[in-house]
Amino acid sequence: MSTLRDKVAVVTGAGSGIGRALSLGLARRGARLAISDVDEDTLAETGEMTRGAGATVHLAPLDVSDRASVAGYARSVADHYGVVHHLYNNAGIAGDARPLIETDYEIFERVLSVNLWGVIYGSREFLPHLIASGDGHLVNISSLNGFMGQANMSAYCTSKFGVRGFTEALRAEMRAARHPVRVTVVHPGGVKTNISSAALAAAGDLTLDERARAERRTQVYNEKLFRTTAEQAAKVVLDGVEKGRERILVGPDAKAVDLGVRLVPAAYSRFVAWWERRMFGDPQ
Ligand SMILES: NC(=O)c1ccc[n+]([C@@H]2O[C@H](COP(=O)([O-])OP(=O)(O)OC[C@H]3O[C@@H](n4cnc5c(N)ncnc54)[C@H](O)[C@@H]3O)[C@@H](O)[C@H]2O)c1
Repeated sequence: MSTLRDKVAVVTGAGSGIGRALSLGLARRGARLAISDVDEDTLAETGEMTRGAGATVHLAPLDVSDRASVAGYARSVADHYGVVHHLYNNAGIAGDARPLIETDYEIFERVLSVNLWGVIYGSREFLPHLIASGDGHLVNISSLNGFMGQANMSAYCTSKFGVRGFTEALRAEMRAARHPVRVTVVHPGGVKTNISSAALAAAGDLTLDERARAERRTQVYNEKLFRTTAEQAAKVVLDGVEKGRERILVGPDAKAVDLGVRLVPAAYSRFVAWWERRMFGDPQ
């Protein structure tokens, strides 16, 4: 029997991609769900799918970058179920891919507010409930960009390296205090989801040239780099969680990059720079 049976599991960003697949996987393994997303329509679809899989589901719109909303949400989930065992801080955005010198501070603020502050708020607000459950598990979704710096992705990499550092610090803290909470960081490689297309759709005013570059980049991601399906990714994560794994790599690309970065921790950027030009062409 699954160790997830009857556990109360919270998933943010559940309306699409990995969050939806995690929600469905948790439902099929018998967990009780609290799912949220900033997009109410896609969230409602995931709600129907998970209920169809037999799960009890608490549904709420939530912007993870809004601290007060996350605090209120944590209270409402704890009141609803009386206990919270698992939190999957999954909601995230890609932001615009640009060289730093062309990047407005607003892009950094937006990416960090969702990808990093969202994880910090969620962890901080749910942690007392995870501890009180006596069998808590916090799962934060980073990326292979949480251990590999990539050209033209400085905001995203900053957020995902941050998620990794935050999560590993918290893991040590839980151990030092002997709190009954496992802490897992997940590093997916390319997963077939809407993340790159959503970033393109959310990009503000672009010149014709910038739009062409952004569209080419999204096309390369969608057609070449996103290999693992969201369902496969969710299975790897949930199998890892059930085995008590604290660091989960998703996909052969994440595993290869992890090895490369360990072997040549400074010089790997030469390869990344070469790869960037090969995949996306010269910057200008
Ligand atoms: N797809 C990949 O290749 C990949 C690789 C590594 C890491 N990740 C990470 O996986 C996580 C899930 O991404 P995905 O690929 O499934 O993308 P996705 O775009 O398919 O899904 C992300 C979901 O998060 C929601 N969301 C966005 N901003 C939000 C906010 N402020 N508050 C609440 N919800 C919000 C979106 O509405 C969407 O439903 C992200 O943290 C992402 O960075 C994805």
